[in-house]
Amino acid sequence: MVQQLTRLDTDKIRPDFPILKREINDRPLIYLDNAATTQKPQSVIDALSHYYTTMNANIHRGLHTLAEESTTAYEAVRQQVATFIHAGSAREIVFTRNTTESLNLLAYSLGSRLKAGDEILLTEMEHHSNLVPWQLLAQRSGARLVYLDVDDEGKLSMDQAHELMGPRTRIVSVVHMSNVLGTINPVSELAEMARSVGATMIVDAAQSVPHMPMDVSTLGADYIAFSAHKMLGPTGVGVLWGREELLEDLDPFLGGGEMISVVTREESSWAALPHKFEAGTPNIDAVIAFGPALTYLSLLGMRNVQEHSRDLIGYAMDQIGGLEGIQIYGPSDPAEHGAVCAFNYLDIHPHDISTIVDKYGIAIRAGHHCAQPLHRRLETPATARASFYIYNRKDEIDSLVAALREAAAVFGHEGS
Ligand code: ALA
Repeated sequence: MVQQLTRLDTDKIRPDFPILKREINDRPLIYLDNAATTQKPQSVIDALSHYYTTMNANIHRGLHTLAEESTTAYEAVRQQVATFIHAGSAREIVFTRNTTESLNLLAYSLGSRLKAGDEILLTEMEHHSNLVPWQLLAQRSGARLVYLDVDDEGKLSMDQAHELMGPRTRIVSVVHMSNVLGTINPVSELAEMARSVGATMIVDAAQSVPHMPMDVSTLGADYIAFSAHKMLGPTGVGVLWGREELLEDLDPFLGGGEMISVVTREESSWAALPHKFEAGTPNIDAVIAFGPALTYLSLLGMRNVQEHSRDLIGYAMDQIGGLEGIQIYGPSDPAEHGAVCAFNYLDIHPHDISTIVDKYGIAIRAGHHCAQPLHRRLETPATARASFYIYNRKDEIDSLVAALREAAAVFGHEGS
């Protein structure tokens, strides 16, 4: 286990991640697809196995020792999450399957309050998970979707936000850090505007919570959503944080076991927070194994994680940006750019780029990254994307640049 550090040291970190010892196509794995999902430290992998080896039992149901142990372990992680994001209490932490489910929960449960003519304000840079649930709600309710544009630097205009927010705005839902552009949006400023018109402010924090300190007590949002698997934890666990008084007032999303207080033949009353939002048997093993992931990041220190991300994206934009025929999307100032670098290179299709660099053991993502409206705005059907996390080193970016030069040669662009 890592010790509390004053800066992040990849040489100390990398041995904790067994998958980084793998070779792909006879080359050491260079994993640069962290915005899609991060790799897991041994402590997380061990926690999954330990859970099934020693305490597997359903939670909140049994009175036997195993049930009590698993319930205690599960609820301890809820408290860890609350501490990690500075929530007022663990009652404000709802476990879901992923960010998408957290946002669907909100779209469904807030939806009953919307009527025709109400407005939902989104941005052109949203991931589909923060678009499609609102489209479905708009179709059900007659509410209208209104969009903040993305400018040529990949940023939003606060002037336009001022213009678009008004008495009809009921919901503002905005991504904190774009999974394509890397743009870090001024969500506190937007939250302030949303509050001034009486709208609910939701932040898709899937890419931001893994990379920067998060303090929901000062952020200004009403709800945030994020996923464990993008921050060293297992897949299948999402988090919805909401202000306690708002969650109290919100209708449940899914009905079933464990989310009730009393059930009669005709109707039911709901369990106390947060359980009224957690119907059915949850992803117990994965929630419990999320605990060591939070411990790992806390010991590293999120300020150090943020510094490392900044260092890598600065280097990446410099080195990848030095290639002739490259176009990098998003803010040109690395200080405003999260640790994702989406690009197009010469006339090579991003899928071909991804396939060629994979031959050198390098994993990047290519496609529309679940952000088709944004790619339409960027006037490209697809981008290639390298995204970084705590175990990545600058020499891995050098290897990507060398592999990109090889790709150029394969496509007949000598000397690129
Ligand atoms: N949202 C994830 C990504 O951007 C899956 O790759």
